[in-house]
Amino acid sequence: MQVFNEINALKQALSSERKEGKKIGFVPTMGFFHEGHLSLMKQAKNETNCVVVSIFVNPTQFGPGEDFESYPRDLNRDLKLCEDVGVNYVFTPDVSEMYPTGYSTYVECEGGITKTLCGASRPGHFKGVTSVVNKLFNIVEPDLAFFGQKDAQQVAVLEKMVRDLNMNLKIIPCPIKRENDGLAMSSRNVYLNEDERKDALVLSQSLKIASELIANGETDAKSIIDQMKSHIMTASSAVIDYVQIVDNSDLSDIDTVKGEVLFAVAVRIGRTRLIDNMRMTI
Ligand code: PAJ
Repeated sequence: MQVFNEINALKQALSSERKEGKKIGFVPTMGFFHEGHLSLMKQAKNETNCVVVSIFVNPTQFGPGEDFESYPRDLNRDLKLCEDVGVNYVFTPDVSEMYPTGYSTYVECEGGITKTLCGASRPGHFKGVTSVVNKLFNIVEPDLAFFGQKDAQQVAVLEKMVRDLNMNLKIIPCPIKRENDGLAMSSRNVYLNEDERKDALVLSQSLKIASELIANGETDAKSIIDQMKSHIMTASSAVIDYVQIVDNSDLSDIDTVKGEVLFAVAVRIGRTRLIDNMRMTI
């Protein structure tokens, strides 16, 4: 495994791999790995023969007052885990390598898809994500790029970016990895204290409630959302950011649950904002 923090050196190494006919799989991350990240790397390993992982806590996707400074980091542990999975290249640039003095170009996906769900409470977040992922795609030039369905809106926005800008790669959405009790894995779960860790279960439980209601024939989105919210509010540390049921293709709200839909929740548990979701075809 080779580790690069300079863009040009990585580009050169990958250009040789490409000349040898290697298929490049790319897993962009912000590090502090858990099984969710590792599952993307394993899938990339299965579907390609040269796996590149980037570890970069991207400042432009954090809003003022968000956790950029305190975002958990452990590079040595992350590198060891990459090595164990059989990753070929790790890219660990400094902020100044990605955004040198005078940097001023951004890529923004406009319209409802970035304004709803997480976009509503995190203005500018998706502009930061599309900009950095666009840069990373230009640096790595992958054939396949692997993203977790845990961040369903991120997948939808990036798929749209790739389509809109005719990018020469395919995005592969990968399933959500969960703890045994159902909590979706997240680097931010380390912020939770013992009581909050228990309270955090209301996110996945509310999705289970929704799937049971659907199984019993309920199709009224408002009624399902109300019951999900009532359950989430049973946790004393929970403050709901959103509970929405949206059309999976454009993330617009729906009244009647039918077709390809996404159930999405964002909840503050104490000071930690957690998200979870479930896709369903009805
Ligand atoms: P990060 O939060 O580190 O996540 C990196 C990748 O891991 C994302 O594709 C995310 O969806 C996936 N992931 C996180 N938790 C997961 C889980 N429980 N199961 C499956 N996959 C999971 O997402 C980002 O970083 C950044 O926005 C990034 C795309 C790197 C741009 O900066």
